[in-house]
Amino acid sequence: MRHTFTLANGVEIPAVGFGTYKAAEHNDEAIISEAIRQGYRHLDTAAFYFNEEAVGKAVRESGIPREEFFLTSKVWRDRLGYDSTLREFEESCKKLGTDYLDLYLIHWPRPNDLTAEWKDLDVETWKALEDLYKSKKVRAIGVSNFLPHHLNNLLERTSIIPMVNQLEFHPGYMQKAAVDFSQRLGIQVEAWSPIGRARVLGEPLLMELAEKYQVSVAQLCIHFALQCGVLPLPKSSSGERMRQNLDVFGFNIEDDDMHMLMTLPQIGWSGEHPDRERVII
Ligand code: A2P
Repeated sequence: MRHTFTLANGVEIPAVGFGTYKAAEHNDEAIISEAIRQGYRHLDTAAFYFNEEAVGKAVRESGIPREEFFLTSKVWRDRLGYDSTLREFEESCKKLGTDYLDLYLIHWPRPNDLTAEWKDLDVETWKALEDLYKSKKVRAIGVSNFLPHHLNNLLERTSIIPMVNQLEFHPGYMQKAAVDFSQRLGIQVEAWSPIGRARVLGEPLLMELAEKYQVSVAQLCIHFALQCGVLPLPKSSSGERMRQNLDVFGFNIEDDDMHMLMTLPQIGWSGEHPDRERVII
């Protein structure tokens, strides 16, 4: 299995990234430095994670050249719009201590106020991303939490097809309609919470298959994403588990085991949906 994916514009992206959301509750920098020591070069952050400065500092202090990293950030849902997106991008670069990003995403397709108009706002925001891309301030652009109808709005009214769509994706919540729709368009899907924020670890089928393949349940989930062509972004606060989560290429899940994983009843959903208020589970 390949250790990179290639985006539609030819940019190579490390096949497993490190998710930094709530990396360590106030200890982000140490955790991110540890992730870099364990081998992660693809770091996924966002303005909303409030840890871009910590990510930037960890990258600089690693002594590893900036070009060896793949850095992603995202514009938050209450900053959508052309001008504010350009400002947010500059702010993210400043906090990260870099003059370019590898990937910039629209974090959610709708503002916090779900009754607000979102279609024009998404188009304006996307045009800002297109301009950043054309001026080479970012190597690739994409979206996050976009369902097919949100993507269609962009496809109908803008010129560049997003290169990435980052979605919640794990056994028990794999959003097949959104994944298939994205993949048919050549959009690389990324998985946030590929281990279902640890909520799926006790699921008997996952435990049984982990035993069969002699891996941990987390490794099974991460490999499951890869085998679906989806790029996983696992999080962990432990060096040992960070390392384990990168060691996921030495096995292959058989077809019918994949089918069982793909058809699990819903488990581990975060409660988040782009068109709805958060469901507290
Ligand atoms: P911890 O920080 O103690 O390692 P997700 O990436 O799906 O959001 O899941 C993150 C959660 O999964 C965290 O609670 C993390 O806990 C846990 N986790 C990450 N990697 C592993 C692993 N290899 N084994 C068990 N739990 C893990």
